[in-house]
Amino acid sequence: MGFDLPGLLAARGGEGYGLHARYLNPQLARMLHAIGFDKLYERAEGSYLYDRDGERYADFLSGFGVFALGRNHPVVRKALHDMLDCELADLVQFDCALLAGLLAERLLGKAPGLDRVYFCNSGTEAVEAALKFARYATGQPRILYWDRAYHGLTVGSLSVNGSNEFRGGFDPLLPDTCIPFGSLDSLQAELRKGDVAALIVEPVQGKGVRVPPAGFLSAAGAMLHDHGALLICDEVQTGLGRTGRFFAFQHDDVQPDIVTVAKALSGGFVPVGATLARNWIFQKVYSSMDRVVVHDSTFGSNASAMAAGLASLAVIEDEQLVSNAERTGKALRDALQELAGEYEMLADVRGRGLMIGLEFGKPRSLKLRTGWNMLQAARRGLFAQMVVVSLFQRHHTLTQVAGDHMEVIKLLPPLMIGDAEVKLFVDAFADVMDEAHRGSGLVWDFGRTLIRQSVTR
Ligand SMILES: Cc1ncc(COP(=O)(O)O)c(C=O)c1O
Repeated sequence: MGFDLPGLLAARGGEGYGLHARYLNPQLARMLHAIGFDKLYERAEGSYLYDRDGERYADFLSGFGVFALGRNHPVVRKALHDMLDCELADLVQFDCALLAGLLAERLLGKAPGLDRVYFCNSGTEAVEAALKFARYATGQPRILYWDRAYHGLTVGSLSVNGSNEFRGGFDPLLPDTCIPFGSLDSLQAELRKGDVAALIVEPVQGKGVRVPPAGFLSAAGAMLHDHGALLICDEVQTGLGRTGRFFAFQHDDVQPDIVTVAKALSGGFVPVGATLARNWIFQKVYSSMDRVVVHDSTFGSNASAMAAGLASLAVIEDEQLVSNAERTGKALRDALQELAGEYEMLADVRGRGLMIGLEFGKPRSLKLRTGWNMLQAARRGLFAQMVVVSLFQRHHTLTQVAGDHMEVIKLLPPLMIGDAEVKLFVDAFADVMDEAHRGSGLVWDFGRTLIRQSVTR
């Protein structure tokens, strides 16, 4: 008896899909079976996953951007082992734990102009804190957000979500306001109404991998500040080096008032989130001893997350992952851009650092147009899904579509990938594009299967 984790994994390995189908979200296992993604992964290292048969898969998804350091990084693993061996007095609650202080000091060292940190347990929680802080600090009720914005799925974050497929059926949400992506005119018009607390943006938008027009963030920041409103940069996905800067807002000449991070902060080992803000905002929200827990979370600042966070920041620095993301991202984008000349259905290659979007568009040739139109008629986004499925089935390369109803796939590999992984991806993608542009074969067979599934679901 007792508990034996390796024994449990060995005894029940292979039951994951059945258990999920029975006890968890029933659609996950169903969807993974449908697209042939139902592998039994057994271990992972760096930018690769390995299944039970020892097959290797290139991870260009990195757990939705969580594994920026690569999987199972030895430095973070050691930090966590050490943390357990120290038998710390964790989560006393009525103390000021050292590790949280150290992680805050280290994070703020990367964020000039921001002074204080609130720690929580996920991206959406970091956003919830940002929204509450902005309202309280400005005394205004309304948050502005972009169409197709994604900031998490709890009710506050959902209220600033710019896609109906997430919002539908969950009303009433908060009365926040959607403005067109990158539109300064709409921002100005809303600000004139005098009740805006903040604009929340992803400096590179995750859904569709959209990069705001050059100079937008600095112009928006100035406009917001003129009206006493705040700029919130949600860096949950873009932060910690992903785009080739530590924070993606640093591509622009702008100083946000609040910044959220999560995902990569603990190296993927422990859920964590953080909301960084200017001192005056914290001074207002936490204005007296009576208000000490006015916004708080029981597990925020837990020692596992803090130790993993400190180790992750050390790895990002020691291994120069930010500059690697910039260099390797450029190499990958350049190589993919070259392919755009060869493949008529590859309409755009965009992104920053190692956050890359590949957009597909209507082919010119008649032969391909028939297949394309057939997919579009069934469901917009099926071609992109077909590419994702083919990359996985034919080349064991894991990617994702960049959002519902869009013909874009997104690459979010670990930031430590090198030339070998760039070549691996470009070769795999060229092969899938070759086949897709022949207008027949396995790629389109997947397409037909996807159509059947999309109309029967
Ligand atoms: C920009 C952004 N904000 C917030 C979130 C929500 O994070 P979480 O899933 O940890 O709640 C995400 C998740 O993908 C994100 O990309």
